[in-house]
Amino acid sequence: MKTRILGKDLKVSAVGLGCMGMSHAYGPAADKQEMTQLLAQSINYGYTFFDTAEVYGTPENPHDNEELLGEALKPYRNQIVLASKCGIRFDESSSAVNKPLIPDGRPETIKRSIEGSLKRLQTDHLDLYYIHRIDRNVPIEETAGAMKELIEEGKITHWGISEADEKTLRRAHKVCPVTAVQNRYSMMYRDYEELFPALEELQIGFVAFSPLANGFLSAKYGKDARFDKKTDYRSMMPQFSPQGMEQNQKLIRYLTEMADQKNATPAQISLAWMLAKKPWIVPIPGTRKYGRLIENAQAAEIGLTDSEVKTLDQMLETVPMSEVFGGSKISKSSVKKTECKENWKNGKAV
Ligand SMILES: NC(=O)c1ccc[n+]([C@@H]2O[C@H](COP(=O)([O-])OP(=O)(O)OC[C@H]3O[C@@H](n4cnc5c(N)ncnc54)[C@H](OP(=O)(O)O)[C@@H]3O)[C@@H](O)[C@H]2O)c1
Repeated sequence: MKTRILGKDLKVSAVGLGCMGMSHAYGPAADKQEMTQLLAQSINYGYTFFDTAEVYGTPENPHDNEELLGEALKPYRNQIVLASKCGIRFDESSSAVNKPLIPDGRPETIKRSIEGSLKRLQTDHLDLYYIHRIDRNVPIEETAGAMKELIEEGKITHWGISEADEKTLRRAHKVCPVTAVQNRYSMMYRDYEELFPALEELQIGFVAFSPLANGFLSAKYGKDARFDKKTDYRSMMPQFSPQGMEQNQKLIRYLTEMADQKNATPAQISLAWMLAKKPWIVPIPGTRKYGRLIENAQAAEIGLTDSEVKTLDQMLETVPMSEVFGGSKISKSSVKKTECKENWKNGKAV
């Protein structure tokens, strides 16, 4: 597979593998043996970029995904870029399938988390470590400072921010250069295109999560699609609701037409569209299936022209579209605002 550079020097496959759905948010966790085999097959096919997080798991096994990757990718560790995340936990008091997120960007939390992730991932360092959500009650300078220390200690080599905004990113980058943001980005969620000029200026890569709008843009889901209300976030995502499906009919039709013209699939066009936008955008679609893993990787070979991208953009600006899942609610932070302000004023970590 073709490769891309995130930040100044982090070389990754042009399409990465998002591994969350193997353990979390897309129904009960998948079979370990099958996923281990799938991960090995992905390496054979040229994937070198793997995405996980401390919190990707199930109520029974909250760190299922890191454990899976640790075991399955151990034989390939020196060939791959391993990315994980810290800095959130779920609000377990909620009965929602997508429980609200409680951000915690405190240095001591980050330092505790990395030890657990290294152990589960069976490695002595991570190649990319993100703060999963910005904790508005902890100055980003403190979070960035902790990441800087982890780099100095050799526990991570690069760091990033998930769901970053420009202002916070600039502040963080001053303390310790950021290699990548990991934000939601798909044909149905383009808000972060606003960030592109800043990313270009600062030489920061963009890792696109949920690049298929949680699978919807593959055009493989119809009105009869049913998802488990207890374990599958898609059961409450607006794009998969009967009304959403109805509203998105034209979008799916246009996307399918474009795919037919290019002898590709709608999923491939969705990925090729973002790959064509900037050379430092890397989508990380998730799948549990071998055929789709290959299909998604092949999107890197499609190469849409500027005029084809423009046509797709114009279509996206005018076609009717439902709302799309925008992520779980951010709940209260772990730290009280006043406590944090005081500590920041005194130059102390919270
Ligand atoms: N930073 C964050 O806060 C954050 C949030 C969400 C996700 N992520 C990361 O981003 C990765 C990807 O996001 P995501 O999994 O939410 O969404 P996604 O990649 O947009 O969609 C994944 C879904 O699409 C289906 N799919 C994948 N390729 C397909 C194809 N070619 N044809 C038909 N269906 C296809 C998969 O089903 P099958 O498994 O059945 O193929 C899966 O249900 C995650 O794994 C995770 O690593 C990060």
